Amino acid sequence: MILVTGGAGFIGTHTCAALADAGIPTLLLDNFSNSRRSVLDRLARITGKPVACVEGDVRDAQLLRQLFASHPIEGVIHFAALKAVGESVREPLRYYENNVAGTVSLLRAMQAAGVRTLVFSSSATVYGDPASLPIREDFPLSATNPYGWSKLMMEQVLADVDHAEPGQWRIARLRYFNPVGAHESGLIGEDPQDIPNNLMPYVAQVATGQREVLSVYGGDYPTPDGTGVRDYIHVCDLAEGHVAALRYLRAHPGLLTVNLGTGRPVSVLEMVRGFEQASGRAVPYQVVARRPGDVAACWADPALAERLLGWRARRDLQAMCRDAWRWQDGEARRLGDAP
Ligand code: NAD
Ligand code: WQD
Repeated sequence: MILVTGGAGFIGTHTCAALADAGIPTLLLDNFSNSRRSVLDRLARITGKPVACVEGDVRDAQLLRQLFASHPIEGVIHFAALKAVGESVREPLRYYENNVAGTVSLLRAMQAAGVRTLVFSSSATVYGDPASLPIREDFPLSATNPYGWSKLMMEQVLADVDHAEPGQWRIARLRYFNPVGAHESGLIGEDPQDIPNNLMPYVAQVATGQREVLSVYGGDYPTPDGTGVRDYIHVCDLAEGHVAALRYLRAHPGLLTVNLGTGRPVSVLEMVRGFEQASGRAVPYQVVARRPGDVAACWADPALAERLLGWRARRDLQAMCRDAWRWQDGEARRLGDAP
């Protein structure tokens, strides 16, 4: 059984679906600080089985001790974290406490229970503003905000833990690029509780008419059409990357660090056009000033993941837009139908 912290969140739910597809039993742990309890029923509809979930916090040492003592947990996938960059600048202590202290609390509980297999959610944010592209795992690391620092710190904690007990741990640090899209069932997807910070959920809400117009942050970047370029990866491909990482760790002790991206750069305007095509709706936009802290371009060299894990992203931009639209349109209709 795999313990999935933050399992009720965006990437967590899709990974639980992928684990179920692979026949791997899961136990979710989530404090629902950024997710809804209703996703559990939806996940159960997808997997055809009830979902085992405990409501609680990864910083609760006593709860973790109980969980490890009472369940046959062989490994952990650790998604639980706060992830809003702007909020992290305003509330750094909350971010360090939740993300860094939460990870230390989890590692202590794992060590005490003798469970030393961990898949960790890192981020392309650890590469800062890359000097060249595509980005390889051995590129220099840097951070420009507390969220990014928290990921770098946690990566360091994991390297130190591996170093202190050589050969005992099996740790994967997975550096995600820009996860988007939704499960093809349309039952689960990204569900921002506030105004979306990220491009795809914002575009999706403009397409449904929930928001009027997309602000395109910057039209003067040194990119083919002047707008920012990213490596968007379908969340179901990302989820399958976690299953592949777990399989890899079974056979390889030590510390693994890999990019999970497609290697394909996509601009903001390409995303807008892709979404218009998938939804059949117009996505009005206006080009405004650059967003502070944004880099012009960021995309992965995904070769290491393919070589080591035998994994690569299979779904294209069209599938990302189609599935995000199916989810967003379905949600908008469900909300509209609600009494
Ligand atoms: P999410 O907010 O949808 O999911 C995180 C889940 O963790 C939520 O359900 C939340 O309630 C839970 N959680 C947070 N703190 C907790 C705690 N202390 N104890 C228990 N549960 C807690 O976010 P996501 O997009 O699914 O991201 C998952 C992971 O991937 C995070 O670590 C995030 O930093 C990382 N990541 C995300 C992206 C992205 O763009 N979505 C990119 C790179 C990395
Ligand atoms: C993508 C592109 C924007 C919104 C962020 C975090 C990063 C990671 C993923 C977790 C950029 C442009 C966006 C909008 C726009 N999270 N944009 N209008 O900035 O690559 O990464 O999320 O680790 O840490 O920084 O993703 O989706 O916010 O932006 O023009 O309303 O879309 O300028 O070029 P980003 P994003």
